[in-house]
Amino acid sequence: MSNLIIVGAQWGDEGKGKIVDLLSESFDIVARYQGGHNAGHTVEIGTNRFVLQLIPCGLLRSGKIGVIGNGLVVDPAALLKEVDALEQNGVDIDRRLFISNRAHLIFPYHRLFERESERVSKRISIGTTSRGIGPAYEDKAGRRGIRVGDILDETNFRCLVETAVAEKQLVLRAWGCDAAVDTAPIVAEYLVLCRRLKPLITDTSMFLNRQMDAGQSVLFEGAQGTMLDLDHGTYPYVTSSSSTAGGACTGLGVAPTRIAGVVGVSKAYTTRVGGGPFPTEENSTMGETLRGRGKEYGAVTGRSRRCGWLDLPVLRYSSMVNGLDSLIITKLDVLDTLDEIPVCTAYEYEGSRIEEMPPLADMLARVHPIYETLPGWKQSTFGLQRYEDLPKQAREYLEFIGSRLGVEVAMISTGPERQQGIVLPGTKLQKLLTDR
Ligand code: GDP
Ligand code: IMO
Ligand code: MG
Repeated sequence: MSNLIIVGAQWGDEGKGKIVDLLSESFDIVARYQGGHNAGHTVEIGTNRFVLQLIPCGLLRSGKIGVIGNGLVVDPAALLKEVDALEQNGVDIDRRLFISNRAHLIFPYHRLFERESERVSKRISIGTTSRGIGPAYEDKAGRRGIRVGDILDETNFRCLVETAVAEKQLVLRAWGCDAAVDTAPIVAEYLVLCRRLKPLITDTSMFLNRQMDAGQSVLFEGAQGTMLDLDHGTYPYVTSSSSTAGGACTGLGVAPTRIAGVVGVSKAYTTRVGGGPFPTEENSTMGETLRGRGKEYGAVTGRSRRCGWLDLPVLRYSSMVNGLDSLIITKLDVLDTLDEIPVCTAYEYEGSRIEEMPPLADMLARVHPIYETLPGWKQSTFGLQRYEDLPKQAREYLEFIGSRLGVEVAMISTGPERQQGIVLPGTKLQKLLTDR
C-alpha cells in the first residue's frame, strides 16, 4: 500500500500542481478531495503551461486515472471548459476522469450570493476567488445543496432547483438585491452541460476502494492549504472546505487506514492571497523582490500574492494537524539572489515569546515574528537536480528547516518544470514512492 496525501502546508499556491504532476508517475490514480475551481494548479511541461482547477494534475500523464471526489463543489461549465482546453492541447481524458455523484453543484446564484453577501454591512471581507465556493458549501452544510447525481433524474432536479431558487429570491430581496434568479434557464443550461458529464458520473468512493483492493495506488491531491482549512486555518479568512489531510478521507470516502503517508508542500518562503493575518509579510521592496522573482500572481485570478518569509510556527502547526511524514520545499531558486534569509522561528505575543501559532486570527494578527537570519548562497540553484550540486548555504537552509520542524525535507523543487527537482535519497518519501 502506498497511497499518499499531498497537502499544502501554508496558504495555498505552494506548487502542489507541479509536485503532484511529478509524483503521479509513481501512482495509478490521482484524486482531488475538496475545493473547487478556486484552485489553480500550474504544471509546466516543456513549452506547455497548464493551469488545472478541478481536474487532478495526474491526468496530464497518459494512462493515469483522475477522480473528482464527493468533497468538491463542481461548476459544470468550468469543468467542461477545462476538459475542452486539455483536449485541445492533446490531453485525451476519455474514460480517464470520474466525478462523484455525491459532489455538490455550484449554481450561478452561488456566485451572486457571494457577491451580494460581501456587500452586507459589517461582513468581514475575505477576498475570495468569487467562484461561488463558499455559498455552495453553505448549501451543502445546510442540507439544501444539489448534488451531481441529482442531475440524472430530470424531474427531481427541476424540483430541487425550483425550491432552491425560491429560497434564494427571498434572501436576495432581504438584502435589497433585485437581481432576477429564474429556475427555467438554470435547469435548461445544467441539463445541457451535464449531458456531457453523465458518462463520468459514478460512485467514486466505491470505485477508489475497489481499485485499491485490486492493488492500484492513489495519490490524493489537496487544494488550497492548511491555513485555508475551514476548521484549522486562520478562520474566518479561510476557504469553506477541509483542505488538511483529514479531508482526503471524508472527501473521497476512503478510510484513514488506507493511507500510507502524508506529504506537505511549502515554498521556501511564504505567500498568501486575499485577506487575513500573515505575520511574516514583507510590505517592502523585499516583498516585491520575492513577488517578482517568484512570479507571485494568482494562477486563477491574476491577483498579486502577498509575500514574506518562511514561518516555522505555521509549518509546525501544519505538520501537527496533517501528521506530515515529509516536507517538500518548492521555489528554492527564488531566494538565489539574497544576501541573507530571515526565517521566523517563534513569535512575540503580548510581551512573551511563543513557539506555537495562536488559534485565533485576531491573535495571529497581533504577533511579532522573531527571526533567525541565515546566509544566502548568492548563486543560481535554478533547475538543479542533484542535492550535492546545491550550494552549501542552500543545503544548510534546508537542513535548518527540517531540524527546527522535526520533519524530514524529502524533496526540493528548483524550477517550475517537471524535471527541475530533487528527491532526497533515504527519505520516507522515497521509500513511500518505491514501496509498491
Ligand atoms: P499550487 O496552487 O500549489 O499548485 O501552486 P500554483 O500553481 O498556484 O503556484 C505555484 C507557481 O510556482 C506556479 O507558477 C509554478 O509553475 C511555479 N513553481 C512551482 N515550483 C517552482 C519552483 O521550484 N521554482 C519556481 N521558480 N517556480 C515554481
Ligand atoms: P490552490 O489550490 C491560494 C483563498 C482566497 C481567499 C480564501 C477564500 O491554487 O492553492 P474561496 O474562493 O475559496 O472562498 O476564497 O481562500 N484561496 C486560495 N489561495 N490558493 C488557492 O488554491 C486558493 N483557493 C482559495 O484567495 O483568501
Ligand atoms: Mg494555486
